[in-house]
Amino acid sequence: VSPETPIVTRKVDLGFPAPVPRYWAGDPVLTRVSDALSLLFPLGEQFFIESVQTYRDRIDDPVLRRQVKEFAYQEGQHSKAHAAYNRMLADQGLHLDWVERSLQTRLGIARRCFSDVTRLAFTATLEHLTATMAEGLLASMHDHFAGAAPRMRALYFWHAVEEVEHKAVAWDVYERVARGGWLRRVLAQFWMTLTVLLNVSVIVTYMLYRDGLLFDLPTWRRSLPRLWGRHGFFTRMIRPYLRGFGRGFHPWQTRPPAGFAEFVRSYRERPDAVAATQAALAATA
Ligand SMILES: [Fe+2]
Ligand SMILES: [Fe+2]
Repeated sequence: VSPETPIVTRKVDLGFPAPVPRYWAGDPVLTRVSDALSLLFPLGEQFFIESVQTYRDRIDDPVLRRQVKEFAYQEGQHSKAHAAYNRMLADQGLHLDWVERSLQTRLGIARRCFSDVTRLAFTATLEHLTATMAEGLLASMHDHFAGAAPRMRALYFWHAVEEVEHKAVAWDVYERVARGGWLRRVLAQFWMTLTVLLNVSVIVTYMLYRDGLLFDLPTWRRSLPRLWGRHGFFTRMIRPYLRGFGRGFHPWQTRPPAGFAEFVRSYRERPDAVAATQAALAATA
């Protein structure tokens, strides 16, 4: 629980469907990785909400109870926004139905085969992954998303800010209410890491194949160092992500990056995600 960063319930409308360039992030690989995550969000976030709400009646702490509600609200809003964008993705002629169908099947299996506490462990560790990516994205906005399409940049910036705001909710319910323990948590994180990497790789491979870029050497030569090089977008997230395996780790041991506070302040004054993202970028330039 971090008193200085409350969870704000925002209602963001990005005006989808709207024209968005096919490679809205500039870099086609970074665009398709973001798109792959977007495809996983609506069903994934629904699963997160459920697994946390299962414990709703067992939470005595009124603050945590309220945070669970705010967390569910935020994730519900993300699902809606990403579902709207995903419908626009389908209009690119990508035939993506199989992605949601296969995820739906696998989430169904997870609901039947794993206990409440294990599903909560999956959620808590995936929320740590999401928060790590969110903090990485906010910190490297200028390097990787400065030239991105404003609505899409705002979608990810707003989503990232809220992932930071609620990053400890599932974690706290897991630790303080479900008392699932460290071993289950690290096993869950290990398994979820493999699952996400595999899912995203398969979807990105398919999309780049349809784009005709999968075997395009110059594309990879430009993108791979930017994403996975020494100071790459994802490389910088590895260390903070691995801290989650530590026995005494808590998500609030990491401070939110610079643009976070500026977005929150700007949005409070004028509820416009595109403008708040611009303000955050200007303040951290
Ligand atoms: Fe989310
Ligand atoms: Fe989240």
